[in-house]
Amino acid sequence: MFQIAEMRRRHGLTAMVETGTYKGASVFAALEAGYEKVLTCEATPLFVDNLRPHVDARVTMFAEPSATALPKMLDLAVDDRVLFWLDAHCDPLRCWDWRAPAMPGLDVLPLPRELALIRARRGDAERDAFIIDDLNLYVRQFWVGGEWAALWGLGPPAFETVRDLIDLLPRHDCHVEHGALVAVPMAPR
Ligand SMILES: C[S@@+](CC[C@H](N)C(=O)[O-])C[C@H]1O[C@@H](n2cnc3c(N)ncnc32)[C@H](O)[C@@H]1O
Repeated sequence: MFQIAEMRRRHGLTAMVETGTYKGASVFAALEAGYEKVLTCEATPLFVDNLRPHVDARVTMFAEPSATALPKMLDLAVDDRVLFWLDAHCDPLRCWDWRAPAMPGLDVLPLPRELALIRARRGDAERDAFIIDDLNLYVRQFWVGGEWAALWGLGPPAFETVRDLIDLLPRHDCHVEHGALVAVPMAPR
């Protein structure tokens, strides 16, 4: 769906770091696109257990929320140019049954924390690329999640407009594609 092979070639990306593994569609897309190092985390251990027999040594999986897994993934990618595919959201228990109790301590919408962790470690991450999925959960301008928000007790969207999100990526060329923000390093000027 996203042109991640072209992004890899054009920007010399060497690793994919993902939050929200689910059933591994983006893991397999990254392998197919030639990423030799794929790091991914998932708050629901069952998804990781199910996927493990189907991936090889290029893939490292963390069965824990992004708040704790992302620092470990950043350590493993310290020398890489990274495609950050930020796709973790929705309380995993309540993805299946919205009446289930909330998973204790989980960031239901972890993107702001994930961006803060990345920025703390990599500054403007000017050599990295980003796919920030499901803007409709995070940006009021795209927000169609009102009913989910009521059911899940979510707060207001993290960002009012997509410009507020783009402001966190000042060294990137950004566009919206398939409801996601795609950000690539600015060409040298
Ligand atoms: C939209 S799905 C990810 C889809 C996946 N990237 C793909 O390509 O198919 C979101 C996943 O994020 C997980 N998740 C939710 N909150 C999380 C968190 N704080 N940290 C890590 N994973 C989380 C959910 O359990 C769910 O599997």
